[in-house]
Amino acid sequence: MVDVKPATGEPVAGFRFAKRSPSEKDPLPMQSTALPIETPRLILRHFVEADLDALAALMANPDFMRFSSGVFTREQTASFLLDRVIAPARAGLPSQFALILRAENRLIGYCGFFRQIVDEVQEIEIGYRLHPEYWNCGLATEAARAVRDHAFEVLQLERVFSVIHPDNHASRLVTAKTGITLAKETTFRGFPALAVVAQCRVRRRA
Ligand SMILES: CC(C)(COP(=O)(O)OP(=O)(O)OC[C@H]1O[C@@H](n2cnc3c(N)ncnc32)[C@H](O)[C@@H]1OP(=O)(O)O)[C@@H](O)C(=O)NCCC(=O)NCCS
Repeated sequence: MVDVKPATGEPVAGFRFAKRSPSEKDPLPMQSTALPIETPRLILRHFVEADLDALAALMANPDFMRFSSGVFTREQTASFLLDRVIAPARAGLPSQFALILRAENRLIGYCGFFRQIVDEVQEIEIGYRLHPEYWNCGLATEAARAVRDHAFEVLQLERVFSVIHPDNHASRLVTAKTGITLAKETTFRGFPALAVVAQCRVRRRA
């Protein structure tokens, strides 16, 4: 993920994305039934309004916000949390999950889905950001793999994308270790970007 913008208030109704379902009218499986997602060191759960203080502290940290348009004010974080994270989740759409470090019961970042337009195509992107104190321990990879599995097994998406700045070596490694591989070089919001993609290998029965 190259960038996170402050919320624009974009409507979530009418959004359509590529599911493996034969009918686009099929409802999404309820994400909540598969949540929280548990990994050896993390719990991935929906964000709630009470996460604002912890998330605002993270989004005010320039390292947490590397490869984005910059740090967020508390107000920007509040709109991001409410409009871009909580609203889609409550509408049953793919969204970001709060990453809770089990050992400390602490919110240390997010990993999950953003809806992005890449080269004029609506894509579901896997994005992540982690508290710098916890970098280089394999936690982003652990989270991204769980989110990838959720995308294919629960949401039944055909594919997931990520758009990465070429200089973001850590993120490139996370996607590579998650089986998300280079699709093409492109530009995203005016920046050079690598579009990486993972296709679901499971074929739905007719
Ligand atoms: C990208 C990010 C989530 C990675 O989190 P993480 O938990 O440290 O990731 P992991 O430990 O699972 O894997 C990172 C890998 O990159 C490597 N790495 C970290 N920094 C690196 C750097 N500057 N150059 C090269 N490799 C680097 C690590 O050694 C590790 O590789 P390894 O598993 O082979 O040892 C974290 O750095 C972050 O939050 N960055 C700021 C936000 C961001 O860039 N988000 C992604 C936007 S696309």
